[in-house]
Amino acid sequence: MATRRLNSSQVPDPILDVLRRLREGGYRAYVIGGATRELLLGERPLPKDWDVGTSATPEEVLRLFPKGIATGARFGTIIVPTEAGPCEVTTFRVESEYKDARRPDHVTFVRELETDLERRDFTVNAIAWDPLHDRLVDPTGGIPDLTSRLLRAVGNPLERFREDGLRPIRAARFAATLEFAIEEETSQALGQAREEVGRVAAERVQEELMKMLGAREPSRGFEVLRQAGLLGIWLPELQATVAVPQNRYHAYDVYFHTLYTCDAAPMGKPVVRLAALFHDVGKPATRLEKEDGEATFYNHQFVGEEMAREAMERLRFSHDMTERVAHLVRQHMFDYRPGWTDAAVRRFIRSVGVDQIADLFDLRIADNLGNGLKTGFPHYLEELRARVEAILEAEEALSVRDLVVDGTDVMTTLDIPPGPKVGEILNQLLEEVLENPSLNRRETLLARIRTGFSVDTHGSRDLG
Ligand code: CTP
Repeated sequence: MATRRLNSSQVPDPILDVLRRLREGGYRAYVIGGATRELLLGERPLPKDWDVGTSATPEEVLRLFPKGIATGARFGTIIVPTEAGPCEVTTFRVESEYKDARRPDHVTFVRELETDLERRDFTVNAIAWDPLHDRLVDPTGGIPDLTSRLLRAVGNPLERFREDGLRPIRAARFAATLEFAIEEETSQALGQAREEVGRVAAERVQEELMKMLGAREPSRGFEVLRQAGLLGIWLPELQATVAVPQNRYHAYDVYFHTLYTCDAAPMGKPVVRLAALFHDVGKPATRLEKEDGEATFYNHQFVGEEMAREAMERLRFSHDMTERVAHLVRQHMFDYRPGWTDAAVRRFIRSVGVDQIADLFDLRIADNLGNGLKTGFPHYLEELRARVEAILEAEEALSVRDLVVDGTDVMTTLDIPPGPKVGEILNQLLEEVLENPSLNRRETLLARIRTGFSVDTHGSRDLG
């Protein structure tokens, strides 16, 4: 595959203005990194992030762009707000000391572009483009590597990885997102940087993991990590699923089933992909082998829920995201029988939550596709989904919030003070409405409160 010919019209005008102003100030300025790589590949939407490398020092950049934000100035980066979004302008530099392998703690600014490029991670990320003069600078051979779809560390791979322990994880990410093979020497060095990989700041690992999960097939990236012996450093629960055999419903061990489930989950849904990654991590701990050699994994979803939470906390995911994923892991084994009443379907929706029900179906479908034996998803899932959709469309009450009466109605009708009783009564009303949605009328529920719930002098009442 040949690389695309670049054209300055691919760069938004406000970014070209940044480059022009730096040039007019007497400095060199290039688009470097992801944007140049993606444009040369030409397969995807236009880049969102535009990183500009320049010979100007941060102070010089700030003089030209007084509105620039200097949060990363110590490392050479000034963020210049533009109409095309923030543009990161970074002084040519070498990251000479990654002493703790977490973040560069010291950088040295340099005036030469080539010196900067030679300290970058992979050749395909070390290509600089000056769209104003139609000039590409590629001292490390990134363009031929893009053409042969090869990920190759710049210079000595182990040195590059020891400088920054995130780079082996980035290798896995790029192997997945670009669908590139990893060059032999680079591949050999991945596993030799174990210690550095373990010392990286968790937030940076999380960021790479999320980019990897955005690939068409994240399995490619996890396999790079596993084969290099790096998977267990940040994801020990996934490593523990390797070679754990399943039962006759599955073609793969727990690990490969997990990877294929992840691949089958929708690309644009990171929460579902994370849930897919963790959905069976409870299996190794709950595996019981029966006499006939078959295995069971009772309650693995509950064990897995806790393990997913722990993993996501380790990776510093937000509380909200962690809880959404943990909830999906917990719910993924849901059962359905065609004999379910509509009230049972409503209770199911309530326990999953209206805002997570679509994700749960996505996960379950992926789980089915990931077992290697089926091609679609079974009829019973279609049926349940149709019933859920009908209920959601009818806008029937599924939570206390959907009741036509609220806590104030309960308090004034029964003349009781605020307190847990009010919630209990509302929950009881909801139970009745789940059973029979036509009860969710104001007069009916007020009457039900008046006649159904007597309150004694201590405030306890009979729930009818
Ligand atoms: N880089 C590096 N070593 C790292 C991180 C980044 O050498 N540990 C360099 C690479 O040249 C990379 C550039 O900094 O291309 C920008 O990094 P980043 O924005 O993290 O990744 P991109 O390559 O831009 O990829 P994407 O836009 O897909 O995130």
